[in-house]
Amino acid sequence: MKKTFYITTPIYYPSAKFHIGSAYTTCLCDSVTRYKKLQGYDTRFLTGTDEHGQKIEEAAKANGKTPQEHVDYISGLAQDLWKQLSIENDDFIRTTQKRHEVVVEDIFERLLANDDIYLGEYVGNYCVSCESYFTPTQLVDGDKCPDCGRPTKLLKEETYFLRLSKYADRLLAFIDSHPDFIFPETRKNEVVSFIKSGLQDLSVSRTAFSWGIKVKSNPKHVVYVWIDALSNYITALGYDSKDDSLYQKFWINGDEVIHVVGKDILRFHAIYWPIMLMALDIPIKFRLYAHGWYLMKDGKMAKSKGNVIYPEQLVERYGLDAFRYYIVREIQYGNDGLFTPEDYIKRINTDLVNDYGNLVSRTISMVNKYFGGTVQKTVHNHSLLSFEQNLEEVATESIKQYQTLMDEFKIADALKALSTLVGRTNKLIDDTSPWDLAKNEETHAPLQSVMYHLLESIRLITVLYQPFLMETCPKVFGYLNVEENNTDFESLKFGVKENYEVVSKAAHLFPRLEEESESEVIRSWMNEPKKEEPKIDPILPEITIDDFAKIDIRSGKVLEAIQHPNADKLLVMKVDTGDKVRNIVSGIAKYYKPEDMVGKTVLVIANLKPVKLRGELSEGMILAAENAAGELFIVEGSSKLNPGSKIS
Ligand code: MSP
Repeated sequence: MKKTFYITTPIYYPSAKFHIGSAYTTCLCDSVTRYKKLQGYDTRFLTGTDEHGQKIEEAAKANGKTPQEHVDYISGLAQDLWKQLSIENDDFIRTTQKRHEVVVEDIFERLLANDDIYLGEYVGNYCVSCESYFTPTQLVDGDKCPDCGRPTKLLKEETYFLRLSKYADRLLAFIDSHPDFIFPETRKNEVVSFIKSGLQDLSVSRTAFSWGIKVKSNPKHVVYVWIDALSNYITALGYDSKDDSLYQKFWINGDEVIHVVGKDILRFHAIYWPIMLMALDIPIKFRLYAHGWYLMKDGKMAKSKGNVIYPEQLVERYGLDAFRYYIVREIQYGNDGLFTPEDYIKRINTDLVNDYGNLVSRTISMVNKYFGGTVQKTVHNHSLLSFEQNLEEVATESIKQYQTLMDEFKIADALKALSTLVGRTNKLIDDTSPWDLAKNEETHAPLQSVMYHLLESIRLITVLYQPFLMETCPKVFGYLNVEENNTDFESLKFGVKENYEVVSKAAHLFPRLEEESESEVIRSWMNEPKKEEPKIDPILPEITIDDFAKIDIRSGKVLEAIQHPNADKLLVMKVDTGDKVRNIVSGIAKYYKPEDMVGKTVLVIANLKPVKLRGELSEGMILAAENAAGELFIVEGSSKLNPGSKIS
């Protein structure tokens, strides 16, 4: 019987149109699934959309739609995009589907009945965007969310809690006894230290909004979006439904289950999800692969920054295979990758146009020129044998490396190993100078052998490119007349195909791209004029001059500034405000280096109650504002102001 392989992407929030970041995860999973199919696995590939929660409710409102209309629209766009990218998912789950909702309702009730969920009260600062509560020590700049920097709201609500603390030891023991549960290793270490730092019970219901799955026994609560979302991995298999055959096959009796997730959502998958499964008495069958992010030169992709790049544009102009190749090739295992227009064009020109595409067209034209298109496998001794033997060795080694790396999810490295073989094959042409061999009748046999080696190597390379270049590989097999049984992994050995009869003329596989002008085209998409008007926060209710007088704003001079030892987003500064030198912590590290701040005259709210921010005392707040692009600027005072001058 075939071994099974079940792979999932995160289910994406349908808040806005998907950019290349979402496409990265989905293409990665699709290529791995295609690879596993070639290896003979019985595969199942799931993706979908995570459609509940306050964030979606608010996005719908901003677009003048009901939440259902909004998610129907974006989820439809997502499914069209995956078709355009030739994604071969077996299922697409939407958390607003009945098949999912009824099971989540049931899961919640069972956890409640087992006392793994209990009713309590939560008081804390809530970030709508991240749908999470934060403790005062986690907040930055007074009330800002430590993850996204947006202001949080102080909420007090009745809520259900999931007993995470009860399962902490069992989870640590599980991680310890399953060394490959989380990879890469560094991510696993982060998770372990997070658990060891103490797990708080998790608030798993909300009453402040209604767009979600209602708690059956207490419908004024909706189920927390992550409990709802994580369940998709089994609800989509028919867990707890009339027909659970897929669940039995791919989960309970399955051989491999992989959840591919971005590094930002690792904690949910490595802690909450296994604990939910333990509480439900479901075996933890999955392993986690946490990948890095596609970043832009100026940081995260954001519509407001005008730096978002969408897959459709790249596919329409440069072709599907170029996009599918680039997107999984550019990010190294577990790391972040930078998207730049120049790199995009260069990567296509180097790997696909120059190396692979050229190899195929040069070889086909030589085989036609010297042998009328037909070449046999020949065994004989000749002076060029060592070059051919070396190529065969490199091929064997590259095939082995490619498979090992693909099995370890090191996709970019696997493609690199394949590039080595492409390079070595091209080198055979330089080593043997076929045009010279062709001049002489005696070197006719070695020439045929060289041509055979080139063709056989192209066949092997093309077999291995199949999970990535879905339009090109069938074309190349067609040019070379490769029979179907010589395109699978069983045929991955030099010398398997005995003879070749190639087409008389082959079109170029990838057109060469003009680097400068094409980079400019991509750049122009990224700087598209923003259609939306910048949003101005509504003016708050009127206050009196007495209210204003309660806020004591002083000018201050920054004497020293350092990066906060435990928080990337924070700077810790010594600021002279006339009365004393204050320690002030501020969430501006993304926009200002410590050395930029020293010497600046800033405006400080001097009578704000001191707070500790990630362990550092902050005795005041520096005034700052964001522009329409979301960039932050501190409000600078005139350098002629003395420290302590009162702002009125
Ligand atoms: N809905 C949750 C996931 C629930 S899974 C049970 C969610 N959705 S998301 O749309 O915000 O993000 C989905 C995935 O996209 C995450 O894995 C995230 O890391 C990934 N990416 C979002 N932007 C990305 C890049 N720029 N680059 C690479 N991946 C990125 O979180």
